[in-house]
Amino acid sequence: MSPVREKVIKGVVSPWREVPAAITRPEYVGKKRATVWGGGDVHDAETIEKIRISARIAAQALAEVGRHVVPGVTTDELDRIGHEFCLDHDAYPSTLGYPGAAGRPAFPKALCTSVNEVICHGIPDSTVIEEGDIVKVDITAFKNGVHGDNCGSFIAGEGSPEATKLVEVTHEAMMRGIKAAQPGRQVNIIGRVIEKYAARFGYESVRSYTGHGVGPAFHTGLIIPHYDAAPHHDDVIEPGMVFTVEPMLCMGSEENHEWDDGWTVVTDDGSWVAQFEHTIVITENGPEVLTLP
Ligand code: MF3
Ligand code: CO
Ligand code: CO
Repeated sequence: MSPVREKVIKGVVSPWREVPAAITRPEYVGKKRATVWGGGDVHDAETIEKIRISARIAAQALAEVGRHVVPGVTTDELDRIGHEFCLDHDAYPSTLGYPGAAGRPAFPKALCTSVNEVICHGIPDSTVIEEGDIVKVDITAFKNGVHGDNCGSFIAGEGSPEATKLVEVTHEAMMRGIKAAQPGRQVNIIGRVIEKYAARFGYESVRSYTGHGVGPAFHTGLIIPHYDAAPHHDDVIEPGMVFTVEPMLCMGSEENHEWDDGWTVVTDDGSWVAQFEHTIVITENGPEVLTLP
């Protein structure tokens, strides 16, 4: 059996990486709060084509970063790779400068790296990845005024059977949630399917972080729970809607807390977590995944 590391601790965060002035920043960069989006979640064909482009860049960036998840790499190096990939494709890495909660610092990096018991929003730093770690990489690209958002879980080297199973089931849970996103249904169908599937394996689905409408805004305000929220979250799924499905499944309890860096979210019990995320568009015939390379 491969050795399994102790709990993740905060490392040293490197200085902010530059973005050439020629690359357009999202409106929130340098501000205290992102502007609240009032334009709804159903988009016209032209906007959807733009989201398609950003989503593809985000997916390609994710694949590129994922190839570098090996024992010995630092999460800061993964950030450098994702950052440069976006710039090379004339895209801005949406998380860089994304405003934090009231009084908290902006997110300082081009992607999130969340290792093992870190659920989400891990900040890339000097942390060295070890054999068997589950590394969640979440990267969002902004181009032509729109965002595409995705996340994958990568195991460094050889994973334990338990970690491998968690990653496989989480991917399948996301795909089942996406397939349930049919026009005419309420968005709460998605989490119902995900949570039920996770429970078959004894996994809990995180409740405090959700999928979201995405496109002209990083987070439009539409919430997509990954648990059975009925009768709440009854928004009806319509053709032209764009949103993410991004379940986080835990081996143990989904109860969690945030580090005092204002971002990093970890399970209270230290149990390991996997996550996958796609940006999808709803068509007359059902969901279509946009975050494909
Ligand atoms: N990409 C994440 C999501 O899926 C959001 C990250 S915001 C950050 O919604 F500021 F933490 F980077
Ligand atoms: Co994301
Ligand atoms: Co997202």
